[in-house]
Amino acid sequence: MNKIHAAITAVNGYVPDYVLTNHELETIVDTNDEWITSRTGIKERRILKGEGLATSDLAVPAVEGLLKKRGITADEIELIIFCTTTPDMPFPATANVLADKIGAKNAWGYDLQAACSGFIFGLATGAQFIESGKHTKVLVVGGDKMSSIINYQDRATCIIFGDGCGAVLLEPNTEGYGVIDSVLKSDGSGRAFLHQKAGGSLKPATHETIDANEHFAYQEGQAVFKFAVTNMADVAAEVMERNELNSDDIAWLVPHQANKRIIDATANRTGVSADKVIINIERYGNTTNGTIPLCLWEWESKFKKGDNLILAAFGGGFTWGSIYLKWAY
Ligand code: UT7
Repeated sequence: MNKIHAAITAVNGYVPDYVLTNHELETIVDTNDEWITSRTGIKERRILKGEGLATSDLAVPAVEGLLKKRGITADEIELIIFCTTTPDMPFPATANVLADKIGAKNAWGYDLQAACSGFIFGLATGAQFIESGKHTKVLVVGGDKMSSIINYQDRATCIIFGDGCGAVLLEPNTEGYGVIDSVLKSDGSGRAFLHQKAGGSLKPATHETIDANEHFAYQEGQAVFKFAVTNMADVAAEVMERNELNSDDIAWLVPHQANKRIIDATANRTGVSADKVIINIERYGNTTNGTIPLCLWEWESKFKKGDNLILAAFGGGFTWGSIYLKWAY
């Protein structure tokens, strides 16, 4: 029998309605549109407004739309991997919350935490359950309500992040389409530069941690930039070399949307021309686990069966990775 690959058979995304523009940020912190645009490429980002709404509420419309597109019901889903850095609650897993909200009664699931590389790690992990024959319908969700951990007094982080969610369905394919290879890496010493100080077992919430703004994302931007700009490019190049792919073989480069300058460096390193690089950072900013599936969702109509896609990400942890996949439809 031919090898089973995990093919993406449907993709969908969801971003909340509220648009937080650079100009609105100018009224909140000491920043300006010119600085944000030239340093990051971001013009606006989406924010989930409203009481009682969480990351799972971004996922519900994304997944319900996906199921409709694929023509299946929620109870056919066997496994949900929810890649997120902003779970609804520390426990239980947001995968369980989502399963309940959409009626995926036959699914088991778990959350995967790898910061901005989460979707890449989740896709690689989900693919294993398909390739092994264990499951035939795996949902990989990547989404974050980043606005829940952003300090809107900190101009170095609040201009970057936004809220959004995307999801893909993985199913077996024996014709050679789907996830072909992945390179996944982490280096925990990088945790010093990008983390959330309090709210975990190291520093449970107290009045002091709240007063010290320690429940927000903390980032040393320049240090993270230095690692991201080389490692994301290197890992994308590594997966291409390993599979004997040159830039002409690549139909689409799908980079994590953290900073336009990091995306450009990855494109240069891999030799992929600008017209094949998927970029929507100007409209959504960095949605952490949401960036790559949102790109797949928005470019889906341009993909052709057999297109070679290179996905690449870098994030807190540090974590980074790249996936080579052949588009299946
Ligand atoms: O997705 C997860 C991984 N994360 C990343 O990949 C993010 C990587 N880092 C970055 O993208 C960039 O480091 C940032 C966009 C966060 C910052 O850009 P930068 O070019 O590294 O700026 P910087 O931190 O070196 O700051 C340069 C100057 C500083 O002023 P001085 O000290 O030179 O006077 C900052 O205070 O820009 C100032 N600055 C701002 N000015 C206007 C910082 N933030 C702002 C702002 N508006 N929002």
